[in-house]
Amino acid sequence: MLRITQLVHHLLTGVIHEGDTVIDATCGNGYDTLFLAERVGESGRVHAYDIQPEAISTTEEKLIAHGLHRRVHLHLASHETIAQETTPVKAVIFNLGYRPGGDKTITTRPASTVRALEAALFRLQPGGMILIAVYPAHPGGEVEAEVVRTFVARLSIKHFTAMHMSNMLATERAPFLVAIEKHSERL
Ligand SMILES: C[S@@+](CC[C@H](N)C(=O)[O-])C[C@H]1O[C@@H](n2cnc3c(N)ncnc32)[C@H](O)[C@@H]1O
Repeated sequence: MLRITQLVHHLLTGVIHEGDTVIDATCGNGYDTLFLAERVGESGRVHAYDIQPEAISTTEEKLIAHGLHRRVHLHLASHETIAQETTPVKAVIFNLGYRPGGDKTITTRPASTVRALEAALFRLQPGGMILIAVYPAHPGGEVEAEVVRTFVARLSIKHFTAMHMSNMLATERAPFLVAIEKHSERL
């Protein structure tokens, strides 16, 4: 069975095409940004955000090592600032929580996460997808998980599909994945 982070990439593989613009809302150690940079091709663009300089530099190093840095714009900024641009995007990844191997007290926060989700929804193209990996087990994580559930619950079924995936055999506070797809206009 694929892990949640692998599932995110698997789900996006058929969605992102050469030339697309996409967002990594929490670049952390750069794995998701690297995946997105590979998918959008030379003519595409990735915007990657993180509030930690270490996350930005780690991600930049990975991209340079793979020769993919020219298609990525790294933003040392909170992901709510994605509202400052209007270019439509094909996909947005939110991998919430703290940076593995980094400071576990620096985590995504419910209020800014929901503002960023609103902005992502506004910029999402028809046929596009928002993936949210949620980790309820760290301090504050359960509140953030609830905020994500509330955000999803008020979406209209007429315009969106929202899938929830988790390991049913794990504890109540196990990580889960939410995949939101915006229906294409022809549906
Ligand atoms: C689980 S990690 C992301 C993992 C990453 N996607 C990867 O592939 O390695 C979560 C990241 O969210 C970042 N973060 C926390 N609050 C943020 C915010 N308001 N805006 C953007 N990033 C934030 C943390 O600094 C941390 O690096």
